[in-house]
Amino acid sequence: MKDLADQIGYSQKVMEHFMNPHNVGVIENPDGYGKVGNPVCGDIMEIFIRVKDDVIEDIRFRTFGCGSAIATSSMVTDLAKGKTLEEAMKITRDDVATELEGLPPRKMHCSNLAADALHAAIQDYREKQKNG
Ligand code: FES
Repeated sequence: MKDLADQIGYSQKVMEHFMNPHNVGVIENPDGYGKVGNPVCGDIMEIFIRVKDDVIEDIRFRTFGCGSAIATSSMVTDLAKGKTLEEAMKITRDDVATELEGLPPRKMHCSNLAADALHAAIQDYREKQKNG
């Protein structure tokens, strides 16, 4: 596995999250939902959150995309779980890539989806609170 990862320029962390992604799935009637598309390749990522007392209690993702998009989705859900909404809003695109010990430069655009989808889900939750 390590040799393969080296050959294609992925860190061991990326390979781990790609082969065994965390928090895959959907949440029925989520408190917040975010969906973003990657304009570069057309791939799509969805994030579902369950919120209690301003904390992300549960988070799931569904990604129709490449290995890097799946690995970054997995990582962003790990980073966001248990955080307050305010803390989760501060997770950046760079944080996700850094936690994965980097991505090959031509795959950096893939890592943008994860933080964007997370922020969209939080935004959706906040809108619902305002309107509900
Ligand atoms: Fe589309 Fe990576 S190639 S997200």
